[in-house]
Amino acid sequence: MKKLNVLITGASSGIGLSTAAALCARGHNVLGFARRSDKLDDLAQTCSDSPGNFLPFKGDIKVDVDVENAIDKMVSEFGGIDCIIPNAGLGHFNPLNEGTMEEWRSMVDVNITGVLKTIHATLPHLLKSKGHVINIGSLASRQVFQNSGVYCATKHFVLAMSESIRIEYSGQLAVTTINPGAVNTEFINHTSNDSLRSEYKPKFDSGMSPDFIANAIVEAAEAGGKGIYSEITLRPDRR
Ligand SMILES: NC(=O)c1ccc[n+]([C@@H]2O[C@H](COP(=O)([O-])OP(=O)(O)OC[C@H]3O[C@@H](n4cnc5c(N)ncnc54)[C@H](OP(=O)(O)O)[C@@H]3O)[C@@H](O)[C@H]2O)c1
Repeated sequence: MKKLNVLITGASSGIGLSTAAALCARGHNVLGFARRSDKLDDLAQTCSDSPGNFLPFKGDIKVDVDVENAIDKMVSEFGGIDCIIPNAGLGHFNPLNEGTMEEWRSMVDVNITGVLKTIHATLPHLLKSKGHVINIGSLASRQVFQNSGVYCATKHFVLAMSESIRIEYSGQLAVTTINPGAVNTEFINHTSNDSLRSEYKPKFDSGMSPDFIANAIVEAAEAGGKGIYSEITLRPDRR
């Protein structure tokens, strides 16, 4: 199996953390990007026994130069980029008339502009390696739910970008969109609306484990040559 050089954002928690660990366990080189360096350092410690390498990088996805520095570091340490997973993201649930511009802007800045910056800055490297973009969408990439209009719009954006890359670069790049339903991570804790957070939290707490999503991402990343997982939808098993 080819050893991949993978850049993953939002590696300090949840899906990103599990995926970074799973990729290292499979022998790949991973640069994990996030703001909480203590969590990245813990992950580096966990991965130190793995056959792969984990490189922690403290940065804010809203700061262009942080992303650029992470990419420079990755290229100098690993020699190139085969796969990106722009996973950093957040959701604030509220009815539209109670949402604040601050919350809406932070979702747009991270879920849209952060994904765009990661793609824009890595595209030359990915074209060189005939690489792979694994975008993290959601069930909200194809469906709109109550009290999450802006979040759903950002995830529709992610799917549209995946389709755009697929159409524009077929033959040069692989692109996958991972669309999970509820996953048990810190995600729901960002919702400041107390009654909605209490109402939704049990659904997330009893949702899929981040390791389950990580397995699907690893499967897609390693599929090279056999075919491309264009879109993977994962739902909690509520039986
Ligand atoms: N949980 C779900 O039910 C679910 C379902 C479908 C899709 N998703 C998607 O899955 C992705 C990961 O979510 P998760 O559930 O794993 O949530 P999570 O546990 O809250 O993790 C979010 C990650 O994003 C990072 N992040 C947030 N803002 C950032 C910033 N400004 N700069 C750099 N990193 C930033 C966080 O790192 P720092 O705070 O350390 O910076 C953290 O590592 C998101 O795109 C989310 O939309 C989640």
